[in-house]
Amino acid sequence: MKRKKRIAILTGGGDCPGINAVIRAITKKAILEYDMQIIGIKDGYEGLIHNKYRTLSYDDVSGIITLGGTILGTSKKANPFQYAVENGGQLKFEDRSHDVLKNIEALEIDCLVCIGGDGTLWITNRLYQEGVPVIGVPKTIDNDIRGTDITFGFDSAVAIATEGIDRIHTTAQSHHRIMFVEVMGHKAGWIALHSGIAGGGDVILIPEIPYQIDKIVQYIHQRRKRGRRFSIIVVAEGAKPVGGEVVIQKIVKESSDPIRLGGISLVLGEQLEKIISLETRAVVMGHLQRGGSPTPFDRVLATRLGSKAVDLMIEKSYGKMVSVQGDRLGDFPLSRVAEGPRLIPEDHELVTSAREIGVSFGV
Ligand code: F6P
Repeated sequence: MKRKKRIAILTGGGDCPGINAVIRAITKKAILEYDMQIIGIKDGYEGLIHNKYRTLSYDDVSGIITLGGTILGTSKKANPFQYAVENGGQLKFEDRSHDVLKNIEALEIDCLVCIGGDGTLWITNRLYQEGVPVIGVPKTIDNDIRGTDITFGFDSAVAIATEGIDRIHTTAQSHHRIMFVEVMGHKAGWIALHSGIAGGGDVILIPEIPYQIDKIVQYIHQRRKRGRRFSIIVVAEGAKPVGGEVVIQKIVKESSDPIRLGGISLVLGEQLEKIISLETRAVVMGHLQRGGSPTPFDRVLATRLGSKAVDLMIEKSYGKMVSVQGDRLGDFPLSRVAEGPRLIPEDHELVTSAREIGVSFGV
């Protein structure tokens, strides 16, 4: 008897709302339409190195569309081509890709679907170069993956960040304070730009447009002259001053991408307070932006992308990630994802619109 086609799903890198909706869409469509077998790899590439997996049935994925996180678990450290091992207190990086290839062969996987950000998709492409039939699904709250106009998780993160800004607004107004709301986004300012506009932020600081502190001061003074005694500054974690550096919160030595950003709002708040002698406060939204249930938009997008991933699998269109161009679904070569993050162009329409309604970018 001919054996059923077997696919494996893996979720790597930081989680985000909507991953489970993708797992659900792939599993349901692959079972209902093509009678395939589905394996869920546990904890990202960690599971492929150590052969940790579970089977996924139709029932296993029922009722998970509203769930945040990933039912499979994930890892941000396990890069099979640069796997951290501690030996006598010393950290070494080993190539464990041979274990991954061996396990994929032993499990008789016909296609590996990797749901991940640029780091995970880079590894996915390396496996493709080693002969593994792979398909990628772009995932990140940062919305910064090359080759797709939008990633699921972004809309949910923006909704959470916007709610944070809304709540800060009322207290900032009551106390006549300068309040910073720091949002995630890594090297890109998409979350800050969108939530900053949606939340009516007065100043929006993004990595793509390095700021000048004296311009922020000038802007706050102008607002005060117009009777606005408070200001909301939405700052992306990756924002930096002209000629300056980002603020690093943590270095995760075991990770092949070790830098974790965070803390710019506190640093900048103190600097500003010294210059303008007005009280500042800072709120770091942090991982709240990655938690909880996906928005309806993200549930729909995740479902569309999961469904498209199965189509690519059927066409044997491997080595690609599913993508969105405008309103349409498409695909993009995984080899090109590593060309760098998708950043905000300085003349982006949203930046221009924000400027035109009086928002300052600190320049
Ligand atoms: O890429 C998603 C993201 O949330 C970034 O916005 C942020 O810089 C990073 O991950 C945080 O990583 P961690 O979960 O390891 O702290």
